[in-house]
Amino acid sequence: MKYVFLNGKFVPKEEAKISIEDRGFLFGDGIYEVIRAYNGRLFRLDDHIERLFKSAEAIRLPEVYKAEEIKEYVNKLLELSDEKDVEIYIEWTRGVAPREHAFPSKSEPTFVMMLLKPHSQPPETYRKGVKIVSYPEIRWKYPYIKTVNLLPNVLAKQFAKENGAFEAIFVHEDTKIVTEGSSSNVLMVKDGKVYCHETNESILFGITLKVVMEICDKLGIDFVGEKFTYDEMIKADEVFLSGTGAEVMPVVMVDDKVIADGKPGEVTKKILAEFLRMTWREDRLKEYLGES
Ligand code: PDD
Repeated sequence: MKYVFLNGKFVPKEEAKISIEDRGFLFGDGIYEVIRAYNGRLFRLDDHIERLFKSAEAIRLPEVYKAEEIKEYVNKLLELSDEKDVEIYIEWTRGVAPREHAFPSKSEPTFVMMLLKPHSQPPETYRKGVKIVSYPEIRWKYPYIKTVNLLPNVLAKQFAKENGAFEAIFVHEDTKIVTEGSSSNVLMVKDGKVYCHETNESILFGITLKVVMEICDKLGIDFVGEKFTYDEMIKADEVFLSGTGAEVMPVVMVDDKVIADGKPGEVTKKILAEFLRMTWREDRLKEYLGES
C-alpha cells in the first residue's frame, strides 16, 4: 500500500499532497470508483472504468486519461504493492481553482488512485447473515452518478454502526420504496424470483449487481428489475446485499424484523456460491456457506 498514483506519477503515500483549493475538497466536485483485486486479479476492471467515464460525462469532467491508460495505471499500482487482496480507490475531481461554484475556465483535473484494505467480511459473517437498518432517503435525484458527495451515505452508515447493523438502506419516507444501501445494492427473493430496484437514475447500477444479474441468468433464476417497498421486503423469502465491499451478503434481519427463518436463504446461497467461483475462491465455498 506504499505507493499512490497522483496526476500521472506513482509516489509514496506520505509525499502525495493535494491543494486545499481542490474542488473535490471544496465542493465534492468529483467522482470515484472502487475496484476489487482478489489475489492480484482485478475483478471487472472494464466495467468499473466504463462506469467511471459515465459518471465523468454526467458531471462534465474534462478527460485526463483514456480508459486504456487508466487500466494500465491500475495494473501498475497493483504491481507496486506487496498486498494482493485490495480495493483500488480512484478519485477524479475538477481540480484546483479559486473558490467559485461555477466551473473554472482553467483547471486541470486531479486524478488519484490508492489501495485500500478490502471491506469484505470474514466467511462466518456470510454463513450467518447480517442485520441491516432502514434510513430515510435523503439523497439527491441522481445517485446513479458515483460522486464523492457522500454525506447522506456517511450519516446512514454511521446510523447503522450505532445500531449494531452491517448496512443502512435508504427508504423513501412517503412511498416506502427501498432504493439501495449506503454502499451496496439491496435485493430480495420472493417465490424464487430475485428483485432489485430498476436501474434508473435513483440508484447506482452496481457492478456486483450486474454480476448477480448474469449469475441469475446462468442459473435460470428469474431477475426482476422493479421497485419494491419496505413492507414487501420484510415479508420476502430472502434479502441480500451486493457490492464491491459487501460482495453477496445475506441479510437475516431488517430493523427489528427477522427475515423468513432468520437464516441465509437458498437462492442467496446459490448466487453467493457462483460469485465465489467467479472471484477465484472455489476452494472456500464451505467456509462461506457451511456446506460441502
Ligand atoms: N460503493 N450503491 C451505492 C450507493 C454504492 O456506494 C455502491 C458501492 C453500490 C454497489 O456498487 P458496486 O457493486 O459497483 O460496488 C451500490 C463502493 C463500494 C464504496 O462506496 O465504497
